[in-house]
Amino acid sequence: MKAIEQQIAALREQLQKHNYAYYVLDEPTVPDAEYDRLFHELKQLEEQHPELVTPDSPTQRVGAPLIGGFTPVEHAVPMLSLDNAFSADDLVAFCRRVAERLDKEGVREAQAFCCEPKLDGIAVTLRYEQGALVQAATRGDGTAGENITANVRTIPSVPLRLQGSGFPPVLEVRGEIYMPRGGFQRLNEQALAAGEKTYMNPRNAASGSLRQIDPAVTAKRPLEFCCYGYGEIDGALLPDSHFDRLRLFHQWGFRINPEMQRITGTEALQAYYDDIAAKRDALPYDIDGVVFKVDAVSLQERLGMVSRAPRWATAYKFPAQEELTVLERIDFQIGRTGAVTPVARLQPVLVGGVMVSNATLHNMDEIARLDLHEGDTVIIHRAGDVIPKVLRAVPERRPSNARKVPLPDHCPVCDAPIERLEGEVIARCTGGVTCGAQRLEALKHFVSRKAMDIDGVGEKLLETLIEKQWVMQFSDLYRLTFDQLMALDRMGEKSAQNTIDALAKSKQTTLPRFLFALGIREVGETTARNLALHFGHLDALMRASEEALIAVTDVGPIMAKHIRQFFEQEHNVDEIRSLIGQGIQWPAIEVPSVDAQPLVGETWVVTGKLETATRDEVKADLQALGAKVVGSVSAQTTCLIAGPGAGSKLTKAESLGIPVLDEAGWLARRQALLGAN
Ligand code: IVH
Repeated sequence: MKAIEQQIAALREQLQKHNYAYYVLDEPTVPDAEYDRLFHELKQLEEQHPELVTPDSPTQRVGAPLIGGFTPVEHAVPMLSLDNAFSADDLVAFCRRVAERLDKEGVREAQAFCCEPKLDGIAVTLRYEQGALVQAATRGDGTAGENITANVRTIPSVPLRLQGSGFPPVLEVRGEIYMPRGGFQRLNEQALAAGEKTYMNPRNAASGSLRQIDPAVTAKRPLEFCCYGYGEIDGALLPDSHFDRLRLFHQWGFRINPEMQRITGTEALQAYYDDIAAKRDALPYDIDGVVFKVDAVSLQERLGMVSRAPRWATAYKFPAQEELTVLERIDFQIGRTGAVTPVARLQPVLVGGVMVSNATLHNMDEIARLDLHEGDTVIIHRAGDVIPKVLRAVPERRPSNARKVPLPDHCPVCDAPIERLEGEVIARCTGGVTCGAQRLEALKHFVSRKAMDIDGVGEKLLETLIEKQWVMQFSDLYRLTFDQLMALDRMGEKSAQNTIDALAKSKQTTLPRFLFALGIREVGETTARNLALHFGHLDALMRASEEALIAVTDVGPIMAKHIRQFFEQEHNVDEIRSLIGQGIQWPAIEVPSVDAQPLVGETWVVTGKLETATRDEVKADLQALGAKVVGSVSAQTTCLIAGPGAGSKLTKAESLGIPVLDEAGWLARRQALLGAN
């Protein structure tokens, strides 16, 4: 029996260690499979010896559904709120108030502040007695909250038992429960697929997840806990510094914010705010400001509080990223391939410091999902440089004359019928090249920098050329004469000559650029390059069957079909012949070798634990193929290779919609790239 008890204790200790490494430190120590094996072993032993099961065992996170809902809990120490600062002046005033008050107390030296991001989640307090989690409660009105222990126990970054030594016999740790953006997005996608209600933002999702009657539901939600404070502490003396206390909590098993810093001086505090504001969109979770707290707990006590907010702390808030405005009209824009995109025309509104008057609505399904009417009051969200988005309408504010907007049946530009094929989200104008909008977009794409790179031919000039019916297709561009251009308003001799020169220069191109310029549906820069490298000659590509196309790296059946269809249309083939007739040419593609570097221009990131090679070896492989390899994920990242235990980089890549490969996926891609060469 003794041996079994020891075995169980050892397993629990190991699991707790791995859990801490994974969920608190973000540095997994073992592969998931090993964790699962240990967990299974413990579970089996506990099933054989139910008398040895304890509530703090890692197997006991998910309990039975609550009967009778959440009961009230009175806080031993009230949970305070924070005063706000909204500007640099407010911050200066806060620092002055603190200094003046301390001065009266005879404290003259400059004070350090503990600085952390202000997490946008739900404030909770966790009570540990003799190291075991005994109660978790919401903030409620600050005096009493709700008992949510059963649900909080399911959150992996909440320790069921404190680790290490020296913790007080009674310890209330306080912090925020939040849902990282990546997890929030996945949760909503799943809800959408299942036809269930989606959550408005990560905060609501966190709140809704905590308010589940059945902890098994909460357990499936990607919640995290990060600590930033404490309530009752009894039976042990802690350091006087708030910052040092939080670091102790970290050692005892809690996540603390990696951005936490101890800073002295108003200017340095402002710089911290600016720095976090700049990082805001890249963080994997939502924040709405930063919190500054006088670091010395003894001085906090002397400063005291006013009306439920401490004098020693302030929340310096970021400008709102969400605002209300009126949706005046929904317009429909036609893209290069005829895709009809509804656009919201808004009463101009300042969101996060930028005036917003348009927002894309993506497609008709989005309008239906949001149940948008013209005249609705809507919530606009804008994060960083991201395109503003309509989050939802406010139904209570819908005027009686609000109007539903149907998909037009004819193109607003060329009047050709608009069709939406069965099973497709996107509606399209059927006008093809005869549609002025599609023509303009196709020409804009053709002349763009990454395509034929024709300098000086911009949207305005193209519009004029189309209007005059001088340019109806790509090849017409090369038929333009100096005299024709000179005849245009506002066209001087010099710019006319420059345009003619730029057109002549663009004739010397590359096959990938030419393919990209054609604007074949679904064929971006990378696919164009893959196609060129794979087939070597345009003729071979034009003849290729769908099966042959699918054999090309990254070309799937849908793309293959679009490519095939493009080359089957006679007018496209004629146009290609015409362009070549005008003198467009490219150097022959050499029989590709490893030096062909198919990943040139791409930026890759490698993270997590890999099995068949080290991360450095994979990096070397990528670089040999021409890719740039960097350490962090951004909107510029082409692809992320993520092994088990990938943390914030994976979440970020997912939230940015960047393709992610696991090790097997990468090996297959590598094989294909080397094979294609
Ligand atoms: S300290 C007495 N630190 O902000 C100080 N609060 O407006 C107690 N919050 O209810 C709070 N991140 O939900 C503190 N790093 C942080 C925080 C934070 C988020 C929330 C918390 C609190 C609210 C106060």
